[in-house]
Formats: sequence, structure tokens, C-alpha cells
Amino acid sequence: MSSAHEALQLVDRYGRVARDLRVSLTDKCNLRCSYCMPAEGLDWIPNPDLLTDDEVIRLVRIGVSTLGINAIRLTGGEPLLRRGLPSLVRQMISIPGSPEVSLTTNGIGLSQLAQPLASAGLSRINVSLDTLQADRFVELAKRDRLADVLDGLAAASAAGLTPIKVNAVLMRGINDDEAVDLLRFCGTHGYQLRFIEQMPLDPMHGWSRDRMITADEIQQQLERAVTLTAAAASRGSAPAELFRVDDGPQLVGIIASVSRPFCGACDRTRLTADGQIRNCLFAREESDLRSLLRSGADDDQIAHSWVRAMSTKAAGHGIDDPTFLQPDRPMSAIGG
Ligand code: 5AD
Ligand code: SF4
Repeated sequence: MSSAHEALQLVDRYGRVARDLRVSLTDKCNLRCSYCMPAEGLDWIPNPDLLTDDEVIRLVRIGVSTLGINAIRLTGGEPLLRRGLPSLVRQMISIPGSPEVSLTTNGIGLSQLAQPLASAGLSRINVSLDTLQADRFVELAKRDRLADVLDGLAAASAAGLTPIKVNAVLMRGINDDEAVDLLRFCGTHGYQLRFIEQMPLDPMHGWSRDRMITADEIQQQLERAVTLTAAAASRGSAPAELFRVDDGPQLVGIIASVSRPFCGACDRTRLTADGQIRNCLFAREESDLRSLLRSGADDDQIAHSWVRAMSTKAAGHGIDDPTFLQPDRPMSAIGG
């Protein structure tokens, strides 16, 4: 490797350096969470456009060995739907530099995959869970799969994929009465719960700022039942503000993506399942690494294109600006 190569990093004009790569492995999903997908699904990315395993590994290797990436999070859609996932994880971990590889999933299929993934070297897992009520789950996600998610969580725990984080999005009039139930459930099972403010990423454009359940509201709701004390002085580049529950070992995180943006500390770069680099969830532009890759570009050309893609990263998501526009791609095609 040339020394010019080693000096490369994914830095933008505000001095932020991206070291955390989010890789979306598929845009497909077996749920239809209302904040993410319409009931009928979406127009999926055509198969020939999806990166093959070898292409994914090549890009991740370039990111890790020449661009300073040290952590990889696999997302979707639903990443467990990607065939051969444990092998993909194993290949990522064997890249020199041994990046940490973690996964965000809806938990369906995890009861089968948790152990193979742990054996492949996956380090941690985040599972999305917005309700503990089976009928409400159907309302929210359009599929009767709560039991599968809970089984998946238990399997992840048994496989040692800890600390297991549970992501919950509260929606007004839908599941906003469940904050404390979710907290108790996670406390009992030793999962770390994190509430995420709902962001405007749904293709149905159903989000509105004034209907959003804010981080402050979530905190107040929890504080009616438990005592919360700040568990860290600063959240650094980690988006969650962490609280200790009743001085006990239990922690709860609140991710105020909209009301207290953490864009200034963002260290993420994103690769979509069809090989596009996005420098932000809310970016209006993408850089096409797939075409570059398939036209025979060498690692150096790909690395430089990735560097250019990140250099123009916007200062923030601007959700509160009157000129804000949702990205053209929905969350499921970007990766969480
Ligand atoms: N706002 C906030 N969180 C979202 N997620 C998906 N869509 C949204 C949204 N619009 C969550 C999922 C999952 C993680 C990837 O992001 O529930 O936990
Ligand atoms: Fe699927 Fe996740 Fe979107 Fe829900 S939020 S529909 S689980 S991709």
C-alpha cells in the first residue's frame, strides 16, 4: 500500500471524520413499519443493481484498509434477509484491521441466525421493537410477528451478542403509552432500551414536526415512573443520551435526532445495497461506486471517489429549516 493511500481519510469541510460505515445489505423487509414503508411495500432495487458479496467486501476492505473505517454496522431494509449473512460477517472481520461488525435488525429470523452470527464474529446487535402488544404490532408493522421478534431477542442474548440494544420509535396516539412498559421489559431481560425520535424518512410523507413525540416528552413520561440520572457527561459522537434507571444497573438511551441534532459530531458514511455512497441519511445526492467498480476502477480510484463523496457532507439535516426536503430514497433503501 502506498503512503499516499494510508493518509486518506473521509473528512468533510467541517473537519468531521467518518470512521463508522453503515452498510445496507438489502432494501427488502418482512415488516411494514408505518414510519418506514407503505403496506404494499416499495419498488425494490432490481437484483442486477444489488452489490454481490464480493463487491460489498471489496468496498468494505477499501474503507477499512485505506480510509480509516473501524466500525461497520449492517442494516437494511432487513439485513437478516440477505442470504449467507454469517459468511459476509466472517469475511468482514477477517479484513486486516479487524473492524468491529454490528447489526441492526427487526429480529425476525434471529432465533435461527443469532448463534451463526455470533460464531462468525458479530459483536453486537440492535433490535427494533416499538410495542409489546401483539395486536398493536400488527397495526404498526402489518405482520403478526411479535413472538418471532421476542424469540429473536432471547436467542441473541443466549448467543452472547451483548449488550443487546432495543430501538423504539414512539408515535402519538399509537404506542406513546408504552414507554414505561418497554423500559420494564428491557430491564427484566437485560436489554438496553433506546428511544429514537421519529424522523421524516417515510415514503408516505406522514411525518410532522408537531405530532412527533419529542425526547423531552419521552423523558418526562419515564420520569413519572422511575428516576433518571445522566449516565455520561457528554454523548460524544454517540447519538444516544444515556440515563441510569433508578440508580440501578439499567441504562436507557434517548436519541433526539430531530430536537437536539448530533450532526456536528457525526462520524458516519453510508453504503446502499446498490453501491451508492451517501454522506448523510438526509443527503440529496449519492456517489455511484457500483458503476465505478463494475467499469474496472482500481482501489485507488474508488477510494478517491469515496473521499470526494464525503467532502461535501452538509453541516446538518436541516429538518427544522423551512426549505427542508426529505431524501428521495426512503430509510429502507438507505440503511438506518
Ligand atoms: N425515524 C426514526 N427511526 C426510524 N427507524 C426507521 N425509520 C425511522 C424513522 N423514520 C428505526 C428503526 C430501526 C432503526 C434502523 O431506525 O426502527 O430501529
Ligand atoms: Fe422493516 Fe425496519 Fe422499515 Fe420496519 S423500520 S419496515 S423493520 S426496514
